[in-house]
Amino acid sequence: MDWGLQNRLSRIIKPADGKAVMLAVDHGYFLGPTESLEVPRKTIQPLLKYCDSLMLTRGVLRTSVDAHFPIPVVLRVSGGSSIIGEDLSNEKITTSVKDAIRLNVSALAMSIFVGAKHEHDSLVSLGNLVNEAGEYGIPVLAVTAVGKELKKRDARYLSLACRIAAEFGAHMVKTYYCDDFEKVVNSCPVPVIIAGGPKLAEKEALELAFNAIKAGAVGVDMGRNIWQSDHPVPMIRAVRAIVHGHQNVTQAYDFFKKLVKEGPTQNNEPQKVNKPKKTKPKRKSK
Ligand code: 5RP
Repeated sequence: MDWGLQNRLSRIIKPADGKAVMLAVDHGYFLGPTESLEVPRKTIQPLLKYCDSLMLTRGVLRTSVDAHFPIPVVLRVSGGSSIIGEDLSNEKITTSVKDAIRLNVSALAMSIFVGAKHEHDSLVSLGNLVNEAGEYGIPVLAVTAVGKELKKRDARYLSLACRIAAEFGAHMVKTYYCDDFEKVVNSCPVPVIIAGGPKLAEKEALELAFNAIKAGAVGVDMGRNIWQSDHPVPMIRAVRAIVHGHQNVTQAYDFFKKLVKEGPTQNNEPQKVNKPKKTKPKRKSK
């Protein structure tokens, strides 16, 4: 593997333990200002120091992340349809590799839609993106998108989608957790990372992360289950304790509750600023 590609991958999957905590905040590319991500900077800022990398679009990167903060970026480069449009699978590559280089990203991400109307286009796009990004040593993360039908996606389907992504040259695959997840991981020759999916109770989300890691996933790329929690910082720290800290679900959930109890100051969460009271200017004595 080329040095540059290896170096970029190691910013995402940490060489110390081969694990990854990614924070996904790319949802606006088809969902618009989705709940708790209405003002991206506000959502992202307190979480930055607890994730290994950030997955987002160039628009949110340029407007809402401080360029001085040393966070590896996984740039979403596909899009083209919205939640109110006709077909979510109708995506193309929307961001050039040249612009990704300008943004100094560590990897590119795009969705594939196996079994959907635009399956062919998305797979050909993946092959082309791997070709082009490969010229510059930039790895590609393929996201096995499931459209609006998450419930129907089982190990059989996700194994198929992940394996196809790897066959097309993706360096990492992001998919959803399911029963028999070992089957998905074992038949995919590149590292598998899980998405969190729709919001769950915190303990259930921690269970999902734990089970995925136990089944062989190298990490998580979670979004809603972090920032739609009432306590995003304790939540990402608890997820991190599972992925990098070898904690089980009970330990991680106890850690979460402890952090919540400690309150927002300890957790670096945004503080409510009390506006200073207006006082009448003192009259100068003559
Ligand atoms: C959408 C994505 C999202 O980043 C992904 O769904 C992860 O976020 P969440 O944990 O909220 O599911 O790639 O295609």
